[in-house]
Amino acid sequence: MSDITVDTVKSESTQKLIDQFGVQPISPELIERIKKYTKKDTLSHFIERGIFMAHRDLDHLLTQLEKNPNEKVYLYTGRGPSSTSLHLGHLLPFTLTLELQRLFDCPVVIQITDDEKYLKNQDGKSLDEISDYGRENIKDIMTIGFDPKNTFVFTNRQYINFLYPNILKIQKSILTRRLFKFFGSTDNDSIGKVNFPTIQMAPCCPSSFPTFLNPIFKWRCLIPCALDQDPYFRLFRDIASSIKEKKPALIYSKFLPSLLGRKEKMSSSVDKSAIFLNDTPKQIKKKINSYAFSGGQDTAELQAQLGANLDVDVAISYLEFFMEDHQRFLEICQQYKDGKLMTGEVKKITIEIIIKVVSDFQENRFN
Ligand code: TRP
Repeated sequence: MSDITVDTVKSESTQKLIDQFGVQPISPELIERIKKYTKKDTLSHFIERGIFMAHRDLDHLLTQLEKNPNEKVYLYTGRGPSSTSLHLGHLLPFTLTLELQRLFDCPVVIQITDDEKYLKNQDGKSLDEISDYGRENIKDIMTIGFDPKNTFVFTNRQYINFLYPNILKIQKSILTRRLFKFFGSTDNDSIGKVNFPTIQMAPCCPSSFPTFLNPIFKWRCLIPCALDQDPYFRLFRDIASSIKEKKPALIYSKFLPSLLGRKEKMSSSVDKSAIFLNDTPKQIKKKINSYAFSGGQDTAELQAQLGANLDVDVAISYLEFFMEDHQRFLEICQQYKDGKLMTGEVKKITIEIIIKVVSDFQENRFN
């Protein structure tokens, strides 16, 4: 069998992040515990392949759920609506949340932070414009298949009255100087921007959802997010017990890399870096063929002799995210690394897969 393991294709920087942020790795033991709790023999490639790369207290959450039958988990995630044209990287956190909703068969709350994007944008966009982005983003988010009966999407602008009692408790328990430290904000920032984090923390309190989360159960919050959102939740975890709330558990995912290289994340502001959800198959093909950074050698001879460097290859990384067939994925990695596959061939496979993801999305989108 191939000597390529999941670890070979995991980003080398994962360990660094784990060390730097004090989060815990998703260990094989934890994966076994999740399988046992959810009664599944296999988990999705997102978990098995390390796309979910780290967590806080997920093991503790499982212990509590196992011990107390009246405790239940809900998922909390969100989006800051900064534009209508989403790219694949924007969708990823929601794809991962959906995966967890299916795995745990649990409710999901999704916060649309129109307030955040209004307060932070520098280009004079009005609140109404941003709310319009929010509405379009909600259609995109619901397209991917969340269970409508078990999913609650809200915009802060409309839902704030339900969050407000918890926002007040949170505001009262955090000193400005502590907030400055966590978010790098200063007294040159607007009051709204400085205060915004308390609004993103409020959905960690189950009582923010009195009409959605059945109060006969005790709810525990699990937040799937990327590491850039960690400060909000680290700070909330610090103050949780002082306001008699439970600490949320977190599960962190990797960013989807830019076409231009695996060190950068996909970004709307760099057009060549992103595959947009409204790109045509032709555009997708052209972008991957022309821009996707390759770890293969310059000539077929050299490639046959030396093989590809998978660690920097963008096409392989997209397969890692989107090719569900794990065996086939490992085979492609091995053959490419050994020089038996050329960059063009790997890109061709990647193009097919990405076109399928994007065209499925386009077919299902609400209009
Ligand atoms: N601040 C996030 C953004 O700019 C949106 C967000 C709100 C979020 N609540 C969240 C993200 C909870 C992850 C988890 O996109």
